[in-house]
Amino acid sequence: MQSYLAPSSFTFLSFPSQKPINKTIPFQSFTIKSSIDKTPTTKPKPTTSSKTTSWVSPNWLTSLTKSLTLGSNDDSGIPIASAQLEDVSELLGGALFLPLFKWMNEYGPIYRLAAGPRNFVVVSNPAIAKHVLRNYGKYAKGLVSEVSEFLFGSGFAIAEGSLWTVRRRAVVPSLHKKYLSVMVDRVFCKCAERLVEKLQPFALDGTAVNMEEKFSQLTLDVIGLSVFNYNFDSLTTDSPVIDAVYTALKEAELRSTDILPYWKISALCKIVPRQIKAEKAVTVIRKAVEELIVKCKEIVEKEGERINEEEYVNDADPSILRFLLASREEVSSLQLRDDLLSMLVAGHETTGSVLTWTLYLLSKDPSALLKAQQEVDRVLEGRNPTYEDIKDLKFLTRCITESLRLYPHPPVLIRRAQVDDVLPGDYKVKAGQDIMISVYNIHHSSQQ
Ligand code: HEM
Repeated sequence: MQSYLAPSSFTFLSFPSQKPINKTIPFQSFTIKSSIDKTPTTKPKPTTSSKTTSWVSPNWLTSLTKSLTLGSNDDSGIPIASAQLEDVSELLGGALFLPLFKWMNEYGPIYRLAAGPRNFVVVSNPAIAKHVLRNYGKYAKGLVSEVSEFLFGSGFAIAEGSLWTVRRRAVVPSLHKKYLSVMVDRVFCKCAERLVEKLQPFALDGTAVNMEEKFSQLTLDVIGLSVFNYNFDSLTTDSPVIDAVYTALKEAELRSTDILPYWKISALCKIVPRQIKAEKAVTVIRKAVEELIVKCKEIVEKEGERINEEEYVNDADPSILRFLLASREEVSSLQLRDDLLSMLVAGHETTGSVLTWTLYLLSKDPSALLKAQQEVDRVLEGRNPTYEDIKDLKFLTRCITESLRLYPHPPVLIRRAQVDDVLPGDYKVKAGQDIMISVYNIHHSSQQ
């Protein structure tokens, strides 16, 4: 199926959007069509793809990169993977995790991908991954921040150092248990009911439905209401804000695969059509969020609202925005806007992806699907779920965990070394080295 849904900047280098396969899999009265059961060992067919924007570059560029960036005396002890264009040309646009898996089988749990102007050390070993992720300060967000700064600004998803610590500490208290309970009841269930209503006619006449698209719309609606108390209503309507969100997410994805990061030159951003479009999209999103902040601030001021208990929730507006404003913490409106956008982007495609993969995997395993349905029927007895019910939905929770193991989102985590370092196993990395932790490889490796 064709999908316009781009992985978020946060989850760029993500799983591919599904394309049709020959099989149709009955799922109650729906039909699910997908190509996502492509196995990682599938050898991509050589092709003369016209797409040349991937950072995985042709041989000559890879060789040039090796000589320019590594020199002749590479003493890192890290094997160099030979990235052939044919390995990836069919997969450009998102399914990078497949060749990464193939190369892990060829080169081992750590290898260097000398690819165009970017040269990554790809890690598929838990001890090395832990070392990189735990040594905060020695490793920063690097490329993730570079490609999504145009959208996130100084939001805490890409912030570093003391700004990150301060903003993270400010936001976390809003995500307390009572907030989640209220959200399950007032947002998750309501949005899910709306989706069920939308699906009903298709179920009745047996029409195939693009569930990836539907889940993405559902999660956008959920995150909009949970974070800003703003109803995108994307299940029902098209709006300039929704279009802008997708344009911006697509741009972040494209930036992560551009061979030359020309968008770092601000003059070029004013004349290149793709950049003009992206800038317009970000303006639309920021304006919408800024207006929501102004409106909410006015209400909080007028009501003299202040947080007076640990698990505070405003009954009329239980959103994170309202909590943060009522906490009266000193923060500029721009920082607040960027933090809220961080949550919107980071929480949208991730949850959409988990729902899509879990449903897909259940549809492929009728006995697991039946067991999950029986558990839901037994625990809920026909009513809507509450937050408390989650602990009793044990099998369903394990299905989601297994889906996250098989298809983790994001499939890779990106970091950049800030200082020279030695990784477990005595592999040397230099300051500035980009590192890609393949969560997918770790989850799929027979060695772990
Ligand atoms: C099942 C759904 C989700 C998955 C699988 C997921 C996965 C992740 C992962 C792996 C990271 C770490 C990324 C890294 O270190 O490079 C992360 C961070 C983050 N996630 Fe999620 N996430 C999910 C849902 C959400 C939701 C619903 C929100 C917002 C309400 C959210 C907001 C964030 C933010 C803001 C960060 C950055 C945190 C920081 O740097 O301090 N995520 N997520």
